[in-house]
Amino acid sequence: MTTIRVRSAAGSYDVVFERGVLARAGAMIRRACEYSKVYVVSSLRVWRHWGAKLRRAIPGWNEKQKILFDDAEAKKRLATVDEIARRLVRAGADRRCVILALGGGVVGDVAGFVAATYLRGVPLVHVPTTLVAQADSSIGGKTGVDLPEGKNLVGAFYSPKLVLADPETLTTLPQREYRSGLYEVIKYAVIADRKLGKYLVQNMPALLRRDPAALAWVIPRCMRIKARVVEKDEHEGGLRQILNFGHTFGHALESATGYRRFLHGEAVGCGMVAAAMIAMLTNRMPREAAVLIFLVQAVGPVPEVPTLGGSRLWKLLATDKKSRNGHVRWVLPRRIGKVDWGIELPRSVVETAARALPAAMMEKNFGIIGFRRAPK
Ligand SMILES: NC(=O)c1ccc[n+]([C@@H]2O[C@H](COP(=O)([O-])OP(=O)(O)OC[C@H]3O[C@@H](n4cnc5c(N)ncnc54)[C@H](O)[C@@H]3O)[C@@H](O)[C@H]2O)c1
Ligand SMILES: [Zn+2]
Repeated sequence: MTTIRVRSAAGSYDVVFERGVLARAGAMIRRACEYSKVYVVSSLRVWRHWGAKLRRAIPGWNEKQKILFDDAEAKKRLATVDEIARRLVRAGADRRCVILALGGGVVGDVAGFVAATYLRGVPLVHVPTTLVAQADSSIGGKTGVDLPEGKNLVGAFYSPKLVLADPETLTTLPQREYRSGLYEVIKYAVIADRKLGKYLVQNMPALLRRDPAALAWVIPRCMRIKARVVEKDEHEGGLRQILNFGHTFGHALESATGYRRFLHGEAVGCGMVAAAMIAMLTNRMPREAAVLIFLVQAVGPVPEVPTLGGSRLWKLLATDKKSRNGHVRWVLPRRIGKVDWGIELPRSVVETAARALPAAMMEKNFGIIGFRRAPK
């Protein structure tokens, strides 16, 4: 069992990573906080796979304490928060209830925002069931929903009382969703962990097979990095921006394709390749850009990347939530394990990388630097 303690302004909490921990959820939650009842917020799909196990783990639990919603990204919105809060009222949930978010990042973000606002805040426990949620989104206290105008535009910082990550839940994740999470794992190596980078170069095939030992090595390392970064900068004043590596261009790609073509991690994978090319063009990363590109390609093919350029590209980049007064701030790598942040770039460099990106991400080019095809 790995336990990582995360300090936050609202109090510390444990992040537990252990195969089979789901079966001990009841006892672990009781140790972390006092509560009247546990209300599980989840999705139909996740519940179908893991509901029975969780139900057995919480003594005295009954069906009225279950709230399921459709966790498509399109449903990550205020109307869903409204619906869940009303169901909590009707089920008699009081101030001492715990909300348990069982699912991926969408469930965590929505249920987290409900917990932050229901009766002005009730205790929250995350039980993340995707690679993204275990390695990243369940830690750090960001909760929220999308608006038609953009992603994650309404939300709150709200720390959980406990995070319980059971890698066994990853066994039922569709392969494309799983691979999408691996791009975010690469992000952690590049921003802060050279040793993780080396491990990924050597063990990507094992990770693609979801080898339990490889997952047990990699996920806690990502958790630790995320925990240390958000502890230093809980409300995203500075350092936390490094978590945005690959996301500036990634968000532009997601937005340009109407959030339908790419899974989030896939867009981040492309964004990291764009950042590697920019770092090479600006002499920041003379030697290791190819390693970064290799790692992204080793995870497997991504959907066709559109060519973005001119004023359209600039508009997409400038509307990113992280830009300031229309100025885009980039996170760029120096080597695997170290990035700089807050960098402004000349338009010509960004446009050169944007023009080169579609070819770099074409499946037929993946053989160039030793790509091994990922299982579908
Ligand atoms: N709060 C944060 O700090 C933070 C960080 C990163 C991402 N996010 C958010 O997370 C969301 C993406 O989350 P995600 O990548 O975890 O995907 P997701 O929550 O969209 O889940 C992907 C799909 O997998 C299904 N699923 C989840 N767990 C499963 C399992 N164990 N077995 C089978 N199917 C399962 C879901 O039902 C869904 O259909 C985005 O909305 C993003 O904005 C938040
Ligand atoms: Zn991300």
